[in-house]
Amino acid sequence: MKGKFITFEGCEGSGKSTQVALFREYLESNNIDYIFTREPGGNQIAEKIRQIILDVNNSDMTDECEALLYAAARAQHISQTILPALNEGKLVLCDRYIDSSFAYQAYARGLGLDFIKKVNSFAISNCMPDYTVFLDISSTEAFKRKGGQDKDDRLEQVGLAFHEKVYEGYKKVIESDPSRFLVINCKGAKHETHQNIINALKEKKVLP
Ligand code: TYD
Repeated sequence: MKGKFITFEGCEGSGKSTQVALFREYLESNNIDYIFTREPGGNQIAEKIRQIILDVNNSDMTDECEALLYAAARAQHISQTILPALNEGKLVLCDRYIDSSFAYQAYARGLGLDFIKKVNSFAISNCMPDYTVFLDISSTEAFKRKGGQDKDDRLEQVGLAFHEKVYEGYKKVIESDPSRFLVINCKGAKHETHQNIINALKEKKVLP
């Protein structure tokens, strides 16, 4: 039987990395057979593409080039890592996936959903997540929650206006595909958020 494909998405500052780590601990302590992977990246070739995309020296990369590189990394990631694991019946947990391209490239960068869908449908050949956990907090709210102290991080470098667009983009994507998304309240303590994620996945029978 084919395994389940679960992705985590959220804005910068949403606590996604912490929640992914807590979720992995949960899977391990419950002996659930899974692989963890991430985007951009996930295997040797895709990680090389990641280095090009995230290299701060490549600040003159065009939005179009960036979008195509994300899709190229994804194509490699799917065929070499994600599909083989799903075919072995494993749960695949992926930190970011196609919805990041919808929110960041289509909406926030303004490349449009049609273009990003076209490029990605070529890259992913129908391999969509069964469920996507979305940590529902905007970067502005997350930044305020931290007391506005993160002066050096990427959030500040790119600007909150961009991240607001990312959040709006996610909201539109969720509206267009509501049954796939598990929209998680993450405004409380991190263990409460973790429990909200577990409860939502149990309800969908992804977890026993
Ligand atoms: P990363 O350091 O992994 O950030 P995070 O901890 O927030 O996941 O960097 C990934 C960055 O790449 C993040 O800013 C979102 C961006 N991204 C896109 O713009 N489009 C995509 O398709 C993907 C997968 C990521």
